[in-house]
Amino acid sequence: MRTFMKLSTLAAALCLAGLAQAQGNAPVKVGFMLPYTGTYASLGNMIESGFKLYVQEQGGKLGGREIQYFKVDDESEPSKATDNVNKLIKRDNVDVLVGTVHSGVALAMAKAAKESNTLLIVPNAGADAITGPMCAANIVRSSFSNWQSAFAMGKVAAEGFGKEKGAKKAITITWNYAAGSESVKGFTEAFEKGGGKVVKDLNLPFPGVEFQALLTEIAAQKPDVVYAFFAGGGAVKFVKDYAATGLNKSIPLYGPGFLTDGTLEAQGAAAQGMLTTLHYADNLDTPRNNAFRKSFALTYKSQADVYAVQGYDAAQILAAGLSAVKGDLTKRDALTSAMHNVVVDSPRGKFTISAAGNPVQDIYLREAKGNNNEVRGIAVKALADPARGCRL
Ligand code: PHB
Repeated sequence: MRTFMKLSTLAAALCLAGLAQAQGNAPVKVGFMLPYTGTYASLGNMIESGFKLYVQEQGGKLGGREIQYFKVDDESEPSKATDNVNKLIKRDNVDVLVGTVHSGVALAMAKAAKESNTLLIVPNAGADAITGPMCAANIVRSSFSNWQSAFAMGKVAAEGFGKEKGAKKAITITWNYAAGSESVKGFTEAFEKGGGKVVKDLNLPFPGVEFQALLTEIAAQKPDVVYAFFAGGGAVKFVKDYAATGLNKSIPLYGPGFLTDGTLEAQGAAAQGMLTTLHYADNLDTPRNNAFRKSFALTYKSQADVYAVQGYDAAQILAAGLSAVKGDLTKRDALTSAMHNVVVDSPRGKFTISAAGNPVQDIYLREAKGNNNEVRGIAVKALADPARGCRL
């Protein structure tokens, strides 16, 4: 009996060693679930490029393991999200999910990641719940919560900043889905705390661009400022339409930086001088940001934006986890705690990750000048999402 037990223990040990060996040689499978079509297509591509750039800079390996990529176009379509994420989890058997841009799609991804205990790094989508009630050890975000950049803009809009005066009356406008409504909520919280009043919330279905009737309404109401959440192709159209009505001459258009990030070339004169708040600015003059932008431009023959930074930092977070366990994915607790405890040396500036899994980071006030969002100052230092409802 004892010999049998010894033998079976030996067999089990050999089996484990074999597993570790197989794992040691095999690549880590990373599954990108991102929008490659639709209004957010450029954001998805930038995230993938940023992620791959960091891996390439490490010689193609993280924690001693090669990286193999899988990808699914999520089309920013929540109704297809569960099927799409299961292609990566069940069909491709990925070790790590990286996605996505759209908050509604990301919420379905987070649910699937929790249920299957698959590692998930969110490289954009700000859905507050992901690092709120849905927070989990296996989920980390390299980007922001919708509340974060919105709250900073609400504070600036109410209190003023430098030569900018504070405002009293605001109208908000956005797409009617989680990111838009949470962004408006974060803005309103800070703006009203600072003594302002949001007099009207306007919205339209995602990813619609029929802005005319809503712009007419803004012109009739004459607020001091307008706060808008749009991004990607929709942001290009909105900012151009806003300027075409002439409204930008009398009513400043504010927003989280998504309104002008990765879009300035297409927006042209319409966006010049716009003030936005975000955790990144193109011209942050640090060795880290300068080296990153140079490397990105050399590799892709295009200029990096905030989405490229978030992809790059998603890879840095994964690298921290894999290095801590020397590539051994079976050491789950050590891996996920290293991913939460990392200090990310980001092009945006160094940042930490909260217990809930969200970056604690400076939010800059930026001004659109030429093709860059230039830093004006720090709107809120080391801003942490309140992580309402997270029990980690
Ligand atoms: C989101 O859906 O959370 C979202 C999408 C695009 C952005 C920012 C947030 O640029």
